[in-house]
Amino acid sequence: MKPSLAATSLPRSGIREIMELASTIPDAIHLEVGEPNFKTPEHICEAADAAVSAGFTKYTPNAGIPELRDVLVGKVRERNAIEADADQIVVTAGAVAGLFSTFAALVDPGDEVLISDPAWPNYALMLQLLGIRPVRFPLDPKQGLVPTPATIEPRITPGTKALLLNSPGNPTGAVTPRETLHELIELARTHDLWVLSDEVYDEMWFDQPPTSAALRDPDERVITFFSFSKTYSMTGWRVGYLVAAPDVVEYIIKTQEPITSCVNAPAQMAAIAAITGPQDCVTEMRDAYRSRRDLVVEILEGDEIGYVRPSGAFYVMIDIRQSEMDSVSFARKLVVDLGVATVPGTAFGPDSGSFVRVSLATASDPLREGVTRLAAAIKDWGS
Ligand SMILES: Cc1ncc(COP(=O)(O)O)c(C=O)c1O
Repeated sequence: MKPSLAATSLPRSGIREIMELASTIPDAIHLEVGEPNFKTPEHICEAADAAVSAGFTKYTPNAGIPELRDVLVGKVRERNAIEADADQIVVTAGAVAGLFSTFAALVDPGDEVLISDPAWPNYALMLQLLGIRPVRFPLDPKQGLVPTPATIEPRITPGTKALLLNSPGNPTGAVTPRETLHELIELARTHDLWVLSDEVYDEMWFDQPPTSAALRDPDERVITFFSFSKTYSMTGWRVGYLVAAPDVVEYIIKTQEPITSCVNAPAQMAAIAAITGPQDCVTEMRDAYRSRRDLVVEILEGDEIGYVRPSGAFYVMIDIRQSEMDSVSFARKLVVDLGVATVPGTAFGPDSGSFVRVSLATASDPLREGVTRLAAAIKDWGS
């Protein structure tokens, strides 16, 4: 008996590799984690408890319970300026399941999807599992790691079916400006591409709130992905949602059935409490990430280390070229010799080896210590 080719050929996540190495180092400082270091707010947990006690523990409709879809209509209107009806919303088992169901619904095996280098590693893994070809376009640090039509257009072929955007971005921390988004949507219109816009960090911004790609989308080619994971520190609850045209929603509901069927029922009740309850928890987390961003920037500026200033999400890409090492060797040595775990840039794309990613989802004191050691390593390890 043998496992499938799909499973055996799937690469290991470069993030997991460092996490496992870090778990063997006593007192390691964890700057590799992509998960908020806050508890899920109490009122959200209480709503799930109440749902369980009331016996709300059965299957729900594929697209989510109507009450949740209704409150999400208000959320995307008020916080994302997206006008959608409830039948345009699908509640998903995290954004990750929404993305997977959408690829399965819209793209055939052998077709191409444009994704950035660097990009969140799971996109390429999902595409590989579905037999879809990822085609990478570079993000230039000199342009703030924001995608541009000029770098994407030459990579479009007759086989290209979709363009994947992610703003605020992981690992870049970049927020794509409104004008650039409009140009990217125009590019997608010219070449008749779907646009999958991953906006799971929509509420984690530091300077200006981000613009949704769907704002200027006359022919409904944009599918937007959101999540409760980061906004409400609910990574383990597995609740996300997407917004799409009603006919696209029909197909996504079909592909969702054999993958997750529906989202955990009590977690959907918790999600309603998250949206309708007090929002100061969101503001507190955003403010904490912003002050940690400022702290990291100050250390890097002081030490004259290259980086791209993040405007959102909770990551910083730090240039390690001065160390004259590739990102995997650097990240391994940093955790083994200096006890600081970061993610090598190549975990996010083959051409991103001149960076490591630091997460701001760590308390300020270890963050300060970890980045100080990292900056010293970049300078000391070069010739
Ligand atoms: C860019 C991006 N999209 C999607 C996700 C997945 O979110 P969820 O927990 O909702 O599946 C993550 C998680 O790290 C992410 O960084």
